[in-house]
Amino acid sequence: MATEKGKVCVTGGTGFIGSWLIFRLLHRGYSVITTVRSDPAYQEHQKGSKSSVQISTTQKAEAAIEGCTGVFHVATPVDFEGKEPVEIVTKRSIDGALGILKACLNSKTVKRVVYTSSMSTVQFPSNMEDIDEAVLEFSEKNGLEVVTLIPSFVVGPFICPKFPGSVRTTLALLLDEMTLESMAEFLSAKYPEFHIPSKDYLKEITWYKIPSVTSKKLIDCGFKFEYGVEEMFRDAIQCCKEKDYL
Ligand SMILES: NC(=O)c1ccc[n+]([C@@H]2O[C@H](COP(=O)([O-])OP(=O)(O)OC[C@H]3O[C@@H](n4cnc5c(N)ncnc54)[C@H](OP(=O)(O)O)[C@@H]3O)[C@@H](O)[C@H]2O)c1
Repeated sequence: MATEKGKVCVTGGTGFIGSWLIFRLLHRGYSVITTVRSDPAYQEHQKGSKSSVQISTTQKAEAAIEGCTGVFHVATPVDFEGKEPVEIVTKRSIDGALGILKACLNSKTVKRVVYTSSMSTVQFPSNMEDIDEAVLEFSEKNGLEVVTLIPSFVVGPFICPKFPGSVRTTLALLLDEMTLESMAEFLSAKYPEFHIPSKDYLKEITWYKIPSVTSKKLIDCGFKFEYGVEEMFRDAIQCCKEKDYL
């Protein structure tokens, strides 16, 4: 049922950011449809919830987007365990993002697409850049308004069905009793393309400087940060304890 504010689509409703986004949009009076990979599993998860999100499968993205005024493309095939070659994951991301953008264009109702990018595009020369370039090129060529956001560091409690990869990675020091040095060793073996500081180098330094990004554009648009690092970790740890992950 469409509401006064209209209908919006969120891809990847089972994800960490996607599930919170749906929660907020419903709260603000939008009618929300989400695309998920596993329809029955998500319906089971939503049982008992007071929210009234419509569910569609990823294969029917075109139908889900029909009649929407906005689309949040937050689904991502990022493989935290590194099981697939980066080229395959990149191609899947580009095909997925372009498929969503084409559906937005065809709908004739979508006014704006919000796409979540990653800090990796800024910090490291990586294939993530290829995805961003493909998205921005398509939007410029076809006159579709696309806003890209870099949620540089998101950690906190979660309401999605699975333990989010980003929270798991952020809390690796607690969850797997992993030290920073062993994490660096593991990551550089797995992802030699990134310039991860060596175990010995980390032991020597007291700080590590990474290229900075700024939130100025976001703040100029009226965005206000409500939580600091302390609250983010406190609430994430509390949530993991409640869900028996810690
Ligand atoms: N969280 C952060 O700290 C952070 C930081 C920077 C950028 N971001 C960006 O923000 C976006 C959302 O991140 P997140 O942390 O919410 O990720 P997440 O919790 O891992 O959620 C990913 C979502 O994408 C879906 N998905 C995975 N592979 C897919 C595929 N092949 N086809 C269709 N859907 C697929 C997942 O579905 P299943 O549940 O079926 O697996 C899930 O709904 C991503 O673009 C990410 O790069 C996140």
